[in-house]
Amino acid sequence: MALSKYMLKKPVALIQQESEKGELKRTLTAANLVSLGIGCIIGTGIFVMTGQAAAQFAGPAIILSFILAGCCCAFAALCYGELASMLPVSGSAYSYAYASLGEIFAWIVGWLLLLEYGIAGSTVAVGWSGYIVSFLKDFHIIVPPEWAAATGMKVTLASGAAGKAIFNLPAALGLSVVTMLLVVGVKESATVNNIIVIIKVAVILLFIAFGLFYITPANWHPFLPANTGEYGHFGWSGVFHGASYIFFAYVGFEAVSTAAQEARNPQRDVPIGIVGSLTVCTILYILVSLVLTGIVKYTTLDVPDPIAVAVDAIHLPWLAFTVKIGAICGLSSVMLVLMYGQTRIFYTMARDGLLPPLFSHVHPRFKTPWLNTILVGILSAVVAGMTPIEDLGDLVNLGTLMAFTIICFTVFYMRRKEPNLPRPFKVPFPKVTPWLGMAFCLFLISTLWATFVALIPYFILGFAIYFGYGIRHSRLRNHKASPIEFAQAASEADLA
Ligand code: ALA
Repeated sequence: MALSKYMLKKPVALIQQESEKGELKRTLTAANLVSLGIGCIIGTGIFVMTGQAAAQFAGPAIILSFILAGCCCAFAALCYGELASMLPVSGSAYSYAYASLGEIFAWIVGWLLLLEYGIAGSTVAVGWSGYIVSFLKDFHIIVPPEWAAATGMKVTLASGAAGKAIFNLPAALGLSVVTMLLVVGVKESATVNNIIVIIKVAVILLFIAFGLFYITPANWHPFLPANTGEYGHFGWSGVFHGASYIFFAYVGFEAVSTAAQEARNPQRDVPIGIVGSLTVCTILYILVSLVLTGIVKYTTLDVPDPIAVAVDAIHLPWLAFTVKIGAICGLSSVMLVLMYGQTRIFYTMARDGLLPPLFSHVHPRFKTPWLNTILVGILSAVVAGMTPIEDLGDLVNLGTLMAFTIICFTVFYMRRKEPNLPRPFKVPFPKVTPWLGMAFCLFLISTLWATFVALIPYFILGFAIYFGYGIRHSRLRNHKASPIEFAQAASEADLA
């Protein structure tokens, strides 16, 4: 059977032509793009996972993990930038793969993006739950511990006895509210994003500025705790495992590259947006890790709300209150953006015929893909209620790293196959950058091999859906759509 059967591609030149007719206005400045990136990036990764990664994997050397993961993202982000400016379609990496590598790769990337967006939404919801529970506790409202952690997790019950958690109810409720907002068409505007970014960054800066005065340098010793004998638990392997874990903290920067077609000057502003938001976040992350592990011993940070724990330790109630409010606002917005992204990817896939039409059905009044949104919402809420954040984080990281590897490869592939296509933004050092991106991603993937094994059934399910449904209903394959219709469908895909 010819492999080319599975490699049908959407015509790039036509997509570009259609996009030039331009429904999207080029309004975003470099500052807007940096803000957009920060808005999507800062979330559970820094507010929750940093503490857990320090406690379980790297100790104070978590700073090195942040630098490593940041480098990986920088290379991948530049590759995203080139593809986004060359293939101005919505639907993100899925659409890039469809137009460049072909349908089967598009399906694989789309299936991986369900981890990057849908499961990431669940992960952020679990982080949000930790801060909500802590916030309510300050007002003497106690959420029963068995209803605030993943099913089966060991918890200390209100009676003081040891018990097992039933379901993380706040996480599931948080996602339900986000789902309802998305069904009625609430979408974060640039102004709301800017306000949330200011709140998030201000809270983090407050934490750093006040925390600096409460650092006990002895807490930083040992900086790189000795390995326990188990791979990934402290020592250098802990730094590497820590990097693949807190990689989650950087997920979301693609938002900058996917806005390339709305940038005023993509060639200049997209790299500024990508590198700028990643640099700002990396600096903030390093400073937060430094202060966090300096205020309290890293061993105490394996909790759902590590930043709040550190702030509580310095007895500044107003700061604790401010940090919790900031974290709750920030995490709510990241949840909304991730869930929005997931529903639009499924929408695009359904428009292409690879998923059932249910996923592209638009509500007559709200003009949103409401059934798709409700299904994604239910799935994410159930997963968030039942799964520990560590497992969720690893799934998201693995899925995202695999998608990034394909993206980096696509840049190299397209440079060879279609060297003359206009590229408003070009990757610097094109002979090296995509390969470095792939090398970093594959290295971090190698630290997640246990999760990789757990993903095998997920991939089997994905291929079963593609070969059982997608391949038979693909619009491109069945010639039910002309290439021009395809390009139009792609540019219409951004609904609300
Ligand atoms: N990077 C985002 C977060 O940390 C997804 O929540």
